[in-house]
Amino acid sequence: KSLKDFNTFGIDVKASQFCSISSVAQLQKILSENDISNLFILGGGSNLLLTKDIEGLVLHLNIKGIEVIKETENEVFLKVNSGENWHEFVQYCIKNNFGGVENLSLIPGNVGTAPIQNIGAYGVELKDVFYSCNTIETRTNKEKTFTNKDCKFGYRNSIFKNEAKGKYIITDVTFSLTKKKHKLSTSYGAIQAELEKNNITNPTISDVSKAVISIRKSKLPDPAEIGNSGSFFKNPVIDNQSFNEFRLQNPEAPFYEVSPTQYKIPAGWLIEQCGFKGKRFGDAGVHKKQALVLVNYGNATGKEIWELALKIQETVKNSFSIFIEPEVNVI
Ligand code: EPU
Repeated sequence: KSLKDFNTFGIDVKASQFCSISSVAQLQKILSENDISNLFILGGGSNLLLTKDIEGLVLHLNIKGIEVIKETENEVFLKVNSGENWHEFVQYCIKNNFGGVENLSLIPGNVGTAPIQNIGAYGVELKDVFYSCNTIETRTNKEKTFTNKDCKFGYRNSIFKNEAKGKYIITDVTFSLTKKKHKLSTSYGAIQAELEKNNITNPTISDVSKAVISIRKSKLPDPAEIGNSGSFFKNPVIDNQSFNEFRLQNPEAPFYEVSPTQYKIPAGWLIEQCGFKGKRFGDAGVHKKQALVLVNYGNATGKEIWELALKIQETVKNSFSIFIEPEVNVI
């Protein structure tokens, strides 16, 4: 089966076997009947670069459903199954006036894969609203719950990218959201500008969501039109000494202080300085409005995108002595 419609890069590779999963019971049955060393778990396919055919069984997690499991005066706990589309979930929250995920509007992908890389945008990360998640451990076929603390969330990082990698299948996520006293996060410059432009002084969660949607639409390509996986690289975090050297050479570079000894440099800026922004090599390219996003203009192979990524990585390394690490999962 072709996986072209199951990855937002739109890469046409094949899976030798494919199965869409719509319940936990079905998942457990499949796990008990198949060789688990040969499994490939697929969620929304939005953080994935496929460079070759998948030999084995692809499990497409398509478990749907949203349920309120507990409510207090100002808090609601929502259990959301992993196959729910992330942005549709955000819109459900806005419609019901549940606050906390509005800044994460329009992020591609599914709810079940959001914890793996702790998705984040415009000052909010998934970890800020994540309560727990349920998983099936593939080795034992038993359920295991991870709390927020268990997940060891970091910048685009979690236990599921490290020691728990490939060992658990996330089946649902529970979120803790606000019902009345929403804690809006509007300090990000672009959000402020967007609200001001529309003369909004007292924004609702819906206003913030609309602002984020408008910002994202203005610089990030829509995967339905041009294949992409959002930011291809993480923004590098460098230490004091490297930062001082970097600043001397590049006084005009934007940066962000993570801690007194750690500085984050926008990879998009580094890539743009290297001349890649808007460049196209066959059907593989660098987005013209955001250099951190690699795009597939139609028929690029995963290998072509990956070769471009390596070329960018090497050029940035040679120009700035900074290593940029892919954010996307490369297969
Ligand atoms: N910049 C450039 N040239 C570019 C792109 C960016 O000079 O081509 C500069 C901008 O001028 C700005 C800085 O880089 O000073 C930051 O740019 P931007 O606000 O667009 O954010 P980013 O650091 O490139 C990160 C996330 C995005 C998230 C935005 C907003 C990562 C890897 N990416 O991008 O997340 O939407 O911040 O919070 O952390 C994603 O992960 O897929 C993603 C889109």
